[in-house]
Amino acid sequence: MKYQSHSVAYNHFVVALLLFALQVIAGLFIGVQYVFPDFFYQIIDFNVMRTIHINLLIVWILIGFMGASYYLVVEESETEVWSPGLANIHLVGFVIGGVAAIVGYLFGWTDGREFLEQPFIIKLAITVVVLAFVLNIIMTIIKGGRWTSVQIVLVMGLVGAALFFLPALGNHVGLYDNLSVDKFFWWWTVHLWVEGVWELIMGAMLSFLLLKLTGVDREVLEKWLYVIVGITFFSGILGTGHHYYWEGYPSYWLWIGGIFSASEPFAFLGMTIYAFTMMELAGRTHPNRVAIYMTLGCAIFAFLGAGVWGVMHTLPMINKYTHGTQITASHGHLAFFGAYAMINIAMMAYAIPAMKGSDGFNKRTGLTAFWLMVIGMSDMTLALFGAGVVQAFMERYNHVPFLDVQNQMGLFYAVRLAGGVVFAVGVFYLIKAFFEPGEKRSA
Ligand code: HEM
Ligand code: HEM
Ligand SMILES: [Fe+2]
Repeated sequence: MKYQSHSVAYNHFVVALLLFALQVIAGLFIGVQYVFPDFFYQIIDFNVMRTIHINLLIVWILIGFMGASYYLVVEESETEVWSPGLANIHLVGFVIGGVAAIVGYLFGWTDGREFLEQPFIIKLAITVVVLAFVLNIIMTIIKGGRWTSVQIVLVMGLVGAALFFLPALGNHVGLYDNLSVDKFFWWWTVHLWVEGVWELIMGAMLSFLLLKLTGVDREVLEKWLYVIVGITFFSGILGTGHHYYWEGYPSYWLWIGGIFSASEPFAFLGMTIYAFTMMELAGRTHPNRVAIYMTLGCAIFAFLGAGVWGVMHTLPMINKYTHGTQITASHGHLAFFGAYAMINIAMMAYAIPAMKGSDGFNKRTGLTAFWLMVIGMSDMTLALFGAGVVQAFMERYNHVPFLDVQNQMGLFYAVRLAGGVVFAVGVFYLIKAFFEPGEKRSA
């Protein structure tokens, strides 16, 4: 390895992939419960495994971001990680916290607010872990002395992610007892992460990948990156209003949320055009085809999942009927996968062979993984979209009772489960590709 501390990134990637596999297994479990509601009834109930599914999602994405950030700053700063020891300690700390949370859920130890179900003590541990990580990243950049635009935007994203985790602590210290107030700040973490600061992390990593895969000039990349950051801030912050329609806040949120969130897709569209323009300029000559596919796949599916599938139900007159239906789940899956799972996988697909020289990320297996995941997720998204349209129309518009409607939708859920199985096989191939020797290449 060129830099010894690349092993820090490697360790994070291995843990992230393992947790990704567990997340998908948990997803299959609740996918089965949708089709056969008696499956593990009163042994491991839907709500418990659902919590585990989405918590594993957040934890592996964050650990993936950490690994990818370490890789990125070492390459950009051309220096070793400030403290590899601290990095490995906070990785272990995160894993212990995560395992404790999940075991806790199985025993009903939960705070009960979606995505932020972790008990207070674990949230405090996560805060410490994240601060240690952000410190290590910033110190590494300072040590290297090169504040490139990619690193500046990355640090903005990471510091932002740490800051917007703080509102998640508020209800534990009794700051907001009122449910509407509680939800108001809950979205500061949940929305401002995925439609704000994480977008900056994604933009920085996408730029880094384009820099490495295309060799295009930094000045060209930087202009795109800053425009995307600008659109993200402009649209994403007040875009939070699209969650404030029906939760007890003043009605001006209908306007603010509608207008600003409807502009959010432009940031994702910007990233798609950016990635393809840079690739075309360079002629896709880089030998790491898996990394190119994952990068372009991310650029496309982030726009489809977040931009198109998001804007679809973001105006209040539509959201009135689709709020909390399977349309939401359809969007949640495609957006999380397209943007944040894919950017992580793209970083791994680039970093592993680049770190190890000739080994890792087998091309054939990697591309099989790519297609299986893309096909599986597209199937899941479309099945849930169909279910959501039926649900919105029958339940919300025609007022047919909830369970009567659910009883009509078995076929959609079976098709979703089939897509889930394909997706899970894709993840198996991804892990196989990660450890399999690749072809000799110069990257
Ligand atoms: C990568 C970025 C994004 C991710 C990961 C994401 C993910 C999610 C998730 C998981 C939910 C469900 C939250 C819940 O539990 O209630 C959600 C809700 C929602 N998202 Fe996104 N989203 C993204 C971007 C966007 C964008 C750009 C828009 C609009 C253009 C959007 C519009 C919405 C709306 C309107 C809801 C509320 C749905 C409802 O009323 O039930 N999202 N999103
Ligand atoms: C084997 C594949 C998967 C299956 C079968 C599956 C199934 C499910 C099910 C049944 C739910 C609960 C929906 C509900 O409350 O009614 C769920 C929630 C969720 N899953 Fe998955 N999942 C899979 C993979 C994934 C992946 C790869 C991601 C992201 C990269 C993901 C992200 C989410 C999110 C964000 C939610 C919360 C959605 C919301 O609140 O709207 N899942 N999943
Ligand atoms: Fe949102």
